Amino acid sequence: MSKKLSRREFVKSGAAAAGLAAASQTVAAAPTMITPQSVKPVVIASGNGNRYKNGGDETCVERAFRMMTSGKDVLESLIAGVEIVELDPTEAGVGYGGLPNADGVVQLDSCCMHGPKKRAGCVAAIEGVRTPAAVAHAVMEHTDHHLLVGDGAQSFARNMGFTIEDDLNTEHSRERWLEWKRRIDPSHYLDPKKRAEAGLEAGISMVREGLIDEDHFWGTINCNGVGPNGDVCGVTTTSGLSWKIPGRVGDSPILGAGLYVDNEVGAAGSTGRGEANLYGLCSFFVVEEMRRGASPKDAGMAALKRVQANTVEKRLLNSRGLPSFGLTFYVANKNGDVAGVSMYATERSKYAVCTENGAESLPLEPLFEGSWTDE
Ligand code: GLY
Repeated sequence: MSKKLSRREFVKSGAAAAGLAAASQTVAAAPTMITPQSVKPVVIASGNGNRYKNGGDETCVERAFRMMTSGKDVLESLIAGVEIVELDPTEAGVGYGGLPNADGVVQLDSCCMHGPKKRAGCVAAIEGVRTPAAVAHAVMEHTDHHLLVGDGAQSFARNMGFTIEDDLNTEHSRERWLEWKRRIDPSHYLDPKKRAEAGLEAGISMVREGLIDEDHFWGTINCNGVGPNGDVCGVTTTSGLSWKIPGRVGDSPILGAGLYVDNEVGAAGSTGRGEANLYGLCSFFVVEEMRRGASPKDAGMAALKRVQANTVEKRLLNSRGLPSFGLTFYVANKNGDVAGVSMYATERSKYAVCTENGAESLPLEPLFEGSWTDE
């Protein structure tokens, strides 16, 4: 027989139920909530994040870590970090001096995500601005949109006070473009498919011959940070695939592909062949794997295996039947645990990390031994 509750008991039990409900909400959120005490602040980036200084005395990861641990917003710190790389004329895969498209024009892509604000901004195929990551940040801060492209992105940047230049080529990037043009002679390839294949092959042969740094062929810096209070943010910026068809946009400015951030879980971003990553939206996939409990390394490896499984076209396979391109993920979870995983890695394949112990270049964990340039 059910016992009737008095009003007082009813109110008490209601309050208890409400308390339980609130508590169960807290419990439901608990697996992905990390208390600030357990956070290890960290910045992780592609290897160029601890290589280029643009004539200064700090690398990207050093600057970003210094700023965010001094109380600056995590995303603003990361963008200030990648700006060193964007402005460095000797980094031919990002920003100023990035290798140009097939017409000899430098077109840049970038995106950024702010974990706690749950906002993002991106630009694609923007010309004439050396620092596309800052423009992506302005899209996030000053518009209701996520992605601006081409002339519209440039007009927006002009209106926001960015300097617009006629040409972002350096002597190095222009010379390399002329060498590529010399190698392809389009009049021999009237079939557009063959011409595109020849264009890619000519580019890869320039990497094999050491004329282009293999990291610069697809370019890109990705940089993610977990701040002292557990805020997670990320940014990716690139000049994209060298000698691309004008207007081609890769994975870098596409949310879920070149970058994904979830403030309750972590961040992932990429460098390498954008088309392969876009097909699987791998940065989103990596973050979702971590949400299900995977470590940063296992989550990144799962994405690489997915990409390998999706690579079925003969032209994209090497003599071992494996993907004939590079693809790397830089992964951080909410605790500040990190991993850099890559389809291939050689001795010189590194990723950058900065913690309270300083900046380091650490070996990437490969899915397969060797280099994507191996025949
Ligand atoms: N991951 C850079 C690009 O494919 O454009």
